[in-house]
Amino acid sequence: MSVLGSPTVLLAGPAANHFIFTNESLALTQTHALHALLGRSILTLSGDELKQVRSAVHGYLRPEMVRRYVGKMDHEVRRQIKLYWVCHNTVTILPLARRLTLGVICSIVFSHEAAAIVEALAADFRFLGDAILSFPVNIPFTRFGKGMKSSAKIRKAITRIAQQREDSLLQEGHAVSSTDFITHMLILRNQGAHSLTLEDIVDNVMGIIIDAHGTTSALITFMIRYLANEPDVLAKITEEQDEIADSKGTEDALTWEHVSRMKYTWKAAMETLRLVPPVFGSFRTATKDIKYQGYDIPKGWKVFAAQSITHLDSRFFNEPNKYDPSRFEKRSSIPPYSLPFGGGPRMCPGNEFSRVEIMVAMHYLVTKFRWKLCNKDETYMKDPKPTPVFGLPVELELRRHPSTADASDAMSIQFN
Ligand code: HEM
Repeated sequence: MSVLGSPTVLLAGPAANHFIFTNESLALTQTHALHALLGRSILTLSGDELKQVRSAVHGYLRPEMVRRYVGKMDHEVRRQIKLYWVCHNTVTILPLARRLTLGVICSIVFSHEAAAIVEALAADFRFLGDAILSFPVNIPFTRFGKGMKSSAKIRKAITRIAQQREDSLLQEGHAVSSTDFITHMLILRNQGAHSLTLEDIVDNVMGIIIDAHGTTSALITFMIRYLANEPDVLAKITEEQDEIADSKGTEDALTWEHVSRMKYTWKAAMETLRLVPPVFGSFRTATKDIKYQGYDIPKGWKVFAAQSITHLDSRFFNEPNKYDPSRFEKRSSIPPYSLPFGGGPRMCPGNEFSRVEIMVAMHYLVTKFRWKLCNKDETYMKDPKPTPVFGLPVELELRRHPSTADASDAMSIQFN
């Protein structure tokens, strides 16, 4: 096919994904808009610089590190539920999920500045995310124009914080906060692990925030949509989550151990990602002439890895349109290289982070609320993330927990 004038090969299926994700002659390709909006981040760098940044980002998001973030995630999720979800009869899920996931990622990558960043810049992060697939001509009030304006505003705010971190490290010689991403990157630079400038580090903070919150907010939104229509799945998740809630004090935060027990809930999340992947595909460019299954792909051609097509192919997923978390019971029945986090060296480094974040969020949502879709057949568009046309409004009710006499008592205990 031809995409914006570039000859492009569309490939789908596990074998094609394996070929794309592991082939060194296929370079991950981002839009011109993304390069302009996010500068020199993990998404746009190449060569040795990319290797260094990937190693630093993977180190920051590896499972042993994510364990340390559970308490902060729990705190932010509860804070936002209390502020924006409780006491409302009707809520629109997508904007709430966006705010929640922006709050969670900011509470990890920044330290005490997180809340102020979310308050001041939530709309700008949205404009920035929306502009990634736009036509890169910088005219005010276009998607790209708004994205560029927001990108500059966000960059300015984060640069101020990064300069403070650099000063503190110089003066005090120790980390300001154990989970702070800027400090993590500055310490690695002092150790010689990379040679990024402060500006590059700021670009990477922006890249991680954009990657993290657009994807996980889509997952929360669509999980809520599926669970509204799937009472059996909701009942099984509720059983799992109630058991965890009952095993801890109402004011205690969730721990890594609790999250590890949320096995069925994660299967439901994976099934949601299969049916509505937040990243529906990605582009590569052939850096030399290559062949795939006897077909020539000339140097310079684009290859589009269409994950969403593989997910709905009945050769790989039985009854592909059915929402059935039990298909993830046996890992071996899931074809390799067909999961929503990609594969190979450019595989998403945020998969463990996403799991923990989503499990914490769903724990509180499922144990505290019941919801009904206001528009049962609300459709969605790919913009580029899956976006319900009305943002998924739902009627929200506090749930009466079986072991609690009065639901409002339960809320006040849990959220005080
Ligand atoms: C449901 C949640 C998520 C999904 C489905 C998802 C999916 C993906 C996919 C498909 C890719 C590209 C793989 C490729 O083209 O080969 C990717 C890349 C990336 N993701 Fe995620 N992601 C999620 C959450 C996150 C989170 C929470 C973070 C950070 C905390 C994150 C950080 C990144 C980064 C930095 C990259 C670029 C990696 C590179 O280019 O080497 N993602 N993600």
